[in-house]
Amino acid sequence: MKTQVAIIGAGPAGLTLALLLHRAGISCIIIEHRSREYIEARSRAGLLEQNTVDLLNELGAGTRLKKEAQTHKGVNLSFEETRIRIDFELLTAGRHITIFGQREVIKDLVKTCLDRGIEIYFETEATQIDKIDTLSPEIEYKTEDFNGKLHCDFIAACDGFHGIGRRSMPAGSYSEYQNVYPFSWLGILAAAAPSSHELIYSYHTEGFALHSMRSDTVSRFYIQVDNQDKLEHWSDDRVWGSLKRRLHTEGFTLHTGDIMEKSITPMRSYMIDHLQFGRMFLAGDAAHIVPPTGGKGMNLALADVRWLASAFEEYYTNNKENKLQSYSADCLRRIWRAQDFSHFMTELFHKQAPKGTFAYQLQKSKFDYLKISTAYQTSLAENYVGLKYI
Ligand code: DHB
Repeated sequence: MKTQVAIIGAGPAGLTLALLLHRAGISCIIIEHRSREYIEARSRAGLLEQNTVDLLNELGAGTRLKKEAQTHKGVNLSFEETRIRIDFELLTAGRHITIFGQREVIKDLVKTCLDRGIEIYFETEATQIDKIDTLSPEIEYKTEDFNGKLHCDFIAACDGFHGIGRRSMPAGSYSEYQNVYPFSWLGILAAAAPSSHELIYSYHTEGFALHSMRSDTVSRFYIQVDNQDKLEHWSDDRVWGSLKRRLHTEGFTLHTGDIMEKSITPMRSYMIDHLQFGRMFLAGDAAHIVPPTGGKGMNLALADVRWLASAFEEYYTNNKENKLQSYSADCLRRIWRAQDFSHFMTELFHKQAPKGTFAYQLQKSKFDYLKISTAYQTSLAENYVGLKYI
């Protein structure tokens, strides 16, 4: 097989890149290790920045998003049962966020790609990446009954944190930064009407809780748990009891219902300082992981491939490589901003140090400042809805 840009991974980054390239008349092929059913069923976050929504609409993949997604003009933040609302519209000149599960975004992106004749090879595993330091890189792949080679001009590794892309960068071609947090998130999907119109991030002495939603009848929750914790320790009763305490404020009632899914996800911040080697470019989780507090993951993936697609377009239309050369630096500005913001939100709302310690007092002081300062609220709001140009 031969194509101009070979994309590894049919996640948000790979699928969006394919649509951007197709629009620019650049050929691409996506190979994806998993089946279509598998990638369309994975539970992921659901917070879309305005930039992300605009891009999906621009690519013609936003029809269902427009009809079914919820627009949130603010967010609720709690600290020990005191709740404040950050008003995005007021603080960011009318910007807002959109709630729509990543799973739904994936379904719409896959369908849009296939409708346009973009080739996606599911259940096809990239087993080796070769010659990325030449003008003709290659990907060896295997399916259940076939081994083949994909020849291309460029490789876009959009294959997630554990993918082969980053692992195939030569040793010493990049440095890593990593922060592993001493807690994880228990994620819950429940057949329960949301108990709030907008999200609630809550610090409680028992630990963090987040209330999100997927529709008028489905709620999504996250609970801070220890890294060693196990799903079997979390009966439905324990989940609801914990959420009731952690989200409690005066006048708040938690709606409960059947729990449809439970999973535990560890939290880490991970970065590398070069997203490119030769003719291979990394995008999305292959290049960076942010802790989920703030919901930046999918938004960063789309921001990366917007840069990447415009760099490929510049190369194929004007034969210029300057944007390809600056891809890494162009992406890293936004990624570092999101790293800092996600870390800030994580530290502010998770239980870390015991009450009364210096670290706890700083955490509480940040929240107290947030309560009274429009400047601090504006900073949080503009990062949360997503900076337009960075
Ligand atoms: C969701 C997840 C997040 O990590 C977040 O910060 C906000 C919302 C979600 O799954 O809806």
